[in-house]
This record gives sequence, structure tokens and C-alpha cells, in this order.
Amino acid sequence: MTTVVFIETNFSGLDAILYCKSRGYRSVLVSDSHERFKKWFPESCMNKLGQVDLLIQVENSNDIDEVKTALQENLDRVDAVLTFAEIRTEMTARLARDLGLRGAAPEAIQIAQDKYRFRKVLLEQGADDVNCMRVETAEQLSAAKGDVSYPCFIKPVQGHSSIGAVVCNGADDMGVLTGRLAAIDEDWISKAFVVEDYLQGRLVSVEVLTLGQGVHQVVGISGRDLINDCVEVGASFPLQHPLAEQIKNKACAALDAIGYHLGPSHVEMIVTESGPHLVEINTRVGGSGHSIMQDLATGRSIVGDCVELCLGNLDMGERLYHHRQGAAWKCLVSDEGGVLEKLPQEDDIHKLPGVEHFWLHKQPGDRIEAASSNYHWILQVMCTGGDQVQARENADEAIKKAAELVHIRAA
Ligand SMILES: Nc1ncnc2c1ncn2[C@@H]1O[C@H](COP(=O)(O)OP(=O)(O)O)[C@@H](O)[C@H]1O
Ligand SMILES: [Mg+2]
Repeated sequence: MTTVVFIETNFSGLDAILYCKSRGYRSVLVSDSHERFKKWFPESCMNKLGQVDLLIQVENSNDIDEVKTALQENLDRVDAVLTFAEIRTEMTARLARDLGLRGAAPEAIQIAQDKYRFRKVLLEQGADDVNCMRVETAEQLSAAKGDVSYPCFIKPVQGHSSIGAVVCNGADDMGVLTGRLAAIDEDWISKAFVVEDYLQGRLVSVEVLTLGQGVHQVVGISGRDLINDCVEVGASFPLQHPLAEQIKNKACAALDAIGYHLGPSHVEMIVTESGPHLVEINTRVGGSGHSIMQDLATGRSIVGDCVELCLGNLDMGERLYHHRQGAAWKCLVSDEGGVLEKLPQEDDIHKLPGVEHFWLHKQPGDRIEAASSNYHWILQVMCTGGDQVQARENADEAIKKAAELVHIRAA
């Protein structure tokens, strides 16, 4: 039986497990922590984990030797290994290479995950011209404050979920930021930071599936909604943009520059007055419902395409993605901390125009914080509409309604 192995998973990857079931593939999930899933997924989606045919528990799913041994002991065959979790993309690429299976070049992922190296490679290859410097600790930011031009943007060299991503408007702000950034203690967030040119403009992302060297199937461009300069609270698809061709070409050029020749990517860019500039390349499908948004708009399973790509079943010549309608997701966050007393009922939100999915990221009784990263989402809706604009309006309206039904007690 065709056997597809997932190394950990994010929210998007849960649907890949269901996709395998629908195709009659055996799905196997290798994981070292159930707690992480609970932190990452809305409670209502946890049951999708139960659809996996085999769960292989390991001590450390980032330990390639341990994972290889576990696969050998538990499986008679492996046809594909893939992951949707940022924290395992690099290891999974090395594993695929070792097992002689299709996968991305680990070196490309290493560049993408090092936000300093990424900038240097893009500069060297002429793919972008954003300048940056690297400091080894948050404390060194204060010492470097005279060497920086303001405003600048500071973020961990290796990070995720906008944790520790901040704009700094002047040398006087560096002291406070240093304290805040030094206090971060999160899995997969480096102690080193990059300080780079502040890109002022609209955040977009280009969703791509790369089938071979320089062969990119662009799913489309997503418009992104941000608050507080970095907290991602929504996305809508497919965005029509006057610079669409330039944006897509630059994203594909950046993928070529880092040597990413196989697999999905979620390429974040900011469109400034001087045109689009790269923010980062995620060498995976966009998480947090992003793939579901693309599925609704294109009528294809994006995560399913990732599975088929790894199995060698995708045709290089055929154009895969056409847009049939708009889709958008949006999250509710709070400006202030407190305790969640009441949340909307499923039915209150589902009956609103265009609502396809409604997910709770928090439960009544949970303590919440003022939004400073993507971990602070309270709830999320996924909507469709005739086009991207209408889908986004539907999502905005649903979130407005949800906000009226949420009660937060000041802590
Ligand atoms: N140079 C920059 N200028 C302005 N905003 C930026 C810059 N770099 C990142 N951001 C903002 O911060 C967010 C998080 O940065 P990103 O590099 O994507 O890290 P993460 O891995 O946390 O997603 C981005 O979505 C973008 O909104
Ligand atoms: Mg990002």
C-alpha cells in the first residue's frame, strides 16, 4: 500500500492526512509531542489527528537517526516523506534525501531558515536588495544602535509566528526593545537577531508549488492583514494587484536564488514604493488555514498536491491552478489582556454570509494577552465570496459579529 510519512504536522497538514485517506494511501505520522499539537491546533481539529493510520512516537522527531530507525522498525515501505511543520522542514528534506525519495534540497531550506543568510544570498544573486546586519544577542542591539538607520525592523534570525518581530523607530527605543526581546523563551526562536531595512507597504504572500528546478506553479497571491506592524490576523485570496507579474516573478527568482527546486512555498513580500521586496520564504504551505483558503478558491487540495508531488504523480506540463472564487480567513485578537469569559456559539457564526469554517483558538476561562504575535488569536473564521474582495468583506463582518459575542474580563 502506498505509504506516506508525515514528520510532525501543522494545521494545514491535518488535511493531508485526510487526503491520504480519501486516496487510499496509508498515512503515518511521526511525532515527539502531543502537547505541541494542542498548542498549535484549534481543539475542534484535533480529531483529524485520529485519522492517521499509524502514529509513531519518537523521543525527538528532529533526530534523523532515531526517525530512520523508527521507520525501519515499523514500516515495510515508505513512498514519500513530507512535513507541513516549519520546525521539521529541514530534517525532512535530509531524511528524504537519505531514503532516496523526492524532496527539497536541505541546503535551500537552511538558507531560508536563517534570515541573515537569506538576505545575503538574495543580495549575492541579485534577487533583492534589502540590507541587514546580525547581532548574536538582544543585548548587543543597544551597542549597535548607532550603526543602524531608522526606522529598522528587528526579528530573530530563526523564528516563526511573528514572535520577536518588531519595528524600531529610533535609537531611543532600542533599550526597551532589547529588554523585551531578551526575555523571549520559545521553542525554535534563536537568540540572535537581524536588524534590517524597514519595508513600508502592503504585505502579500505568493503561494507556489515548485515541481522542478525553475518550474514553478504559482497558486496565486494572498493579501495579508496585519496589526501592530507584525501580527498576522488575516489573509484573502486571490489578490488582484497591479504589480502581480512583478511580485510573482520576484518570488520565483528568490526561490531559484536559494536553490529551492521541489515543494510548496509561502513567499512573503512587502510591496513598497520601490516595488516588491522579500520578507521571507517559508519552504512549506502557509499554515493556519492558509491552505484551506487556497483549496476553496481553486477547487484543488493544495496539501494533496504536495503529497502527489512527493509521490511523483504531478504532471510538469499542466497548469494546475485556476481561480473559481474568493476565500479569506480572519482572526479575532484583543488589544488588552484579560480572562475570556464567553465565546460565540458555532451556529451564531456559521449562519453568517460566506462562512465556511469557524475555529476557536482559546476556550472560556483562558487567560489572553494583548496581541503581539500570532499565538494571541482568540478565534478564526474562513469565508468564501465571489472574489477576494467579497470574501474578505465576509470575513470582516463575521469577525465583527464574533467580537460582539466575546466577553473578556480585565485581569
Ligand atoms: N523588513 C521588514 N520590514 C517591515 N516589516 C517586516 C520586515 N520583516 C518582517 N516584517 C513583518 O514581520 C512579520 C514577521 O516576519 P517574518 O520574517 O515573516 O517572520 P516569521 O518567521 O515570524 O513569520 C512579517 O509578516 C512582516 O509583517
Ligand atoms: Mg513570516
